[in-house]
Amino acid sequence: RTETHTVSVGTDTVQCGPDQAILDAFLRGGVWMPNSCNQGTCGTCKLRVVSGSVDHRRSPDSTLSAAERDAGFALACQAAPCGDTVVERLDSAPAATVHALRDLVGTVSGIENIARDTRRLLVTLDSPLEFSAGQYVELRVPGSDQGRQYSMANSPSESKVLEFHIRRQPGGLATDNWIFGPLSVGDRVDMVGPLGDFCLDTDDDGPMILLGGGTGLAPLKSIAAQALRATPDRTVHLYHGVREEADLYDVDLFQEWERAHPGFRYRPCLSDQTWPGRTGYVTDAFVDDFDSCRGYSGYLCGPPAMVDAGVKAFKRRRMAPRRIFREKFTPAV
Ligand code: FES
Repeated sequence: RTETHTVSVGTDTVQCGPDQAILDAFLRGGVWMPNSCNQGTCGTCKLRVVSGSVDHRRSPDSTLSAAERDAGFALACQAAPCGDTVVERLDSAPAATVHALRDLVGTVSGIENIARDTRRLLVTLDSPLEFSAGQYVELRVPGSDQGRQYSMANSPSESKVLEFHIRRQPGGLATDNWIFGPLSVGDRVDMVGPLGDFCLDTDDDGPMILLGGGTGLAPLKSIAAQALRATPDRTVHLYHGVREEADLYDVDLFQEWERAHPGFRYRPCLSDQTWPGRTGYVTDAFVDDFDSCRGYSGYLCGPPAMVDAGVKAFKRRRMAPRRIFREKFTPAV
């Protein structure tokens, strides 16, 4: 197959190349499609094929069952069209702003150890990237056909230098063998982005609670920076849950934000170590601090168990479900 096909949703039509995922074609064309993991694991991008047919390629059965395939459903991040195809979104929620997906090239301009097994990576882009606070890009791992997803930690207003927080995975292709190995300042990096629907709701300027686990802090730092930039006295409670004090980072920066912004509160919390600060699970610390968070928005990013516990905690404290935004770390497949 070498020819391209048209793929349409509503009034939008894009060209989709051979072996190109439908999601990739739509996002590159600036057409919004719900998406989160882009790995076939979360199901966010599920759509219905109205006419035409698709090749499901590497769609896992656990996300798209045989019965769903028979009923005409497909995963946009995996499926490629077999001919001209019309699809329908299952989720009609409009995205705030759509930033077209594109290939990106940058140069490593900083690598810094910031906590135990954790590095800050700075990449200066050849041309600035428009994105929403909370989104991520996929870094191409050199010498492989694999990509790894990292959220931007910088505010979208700094569109030329992307900041990533990276946790080492023992034996990891991208971490042990690249970012914690030979990667050096001056190296060129290929990426694709921006991706993901987890982002700051810029129509809202109410109080917010941000709850992050480990390097799940990265998109929350971007969200907090943008929210405070737009509304310097906004109420923003940032909780960061890690195991031990050695895992905390950017503590001085967040304390500086507390001095500069009367509504900003930084709450680090250790699950496996006692210290003068908060101890226990970060979600429990939040529950202890609030009787009610009616009227608040909540943003969660971290391991799936933490995110699930956080959603429950928010609901227990009366946060409206539609005001809860979440991003789970999904394992690479
Ligand atoms: Fe397609 Fe997660 S399954 S975005």
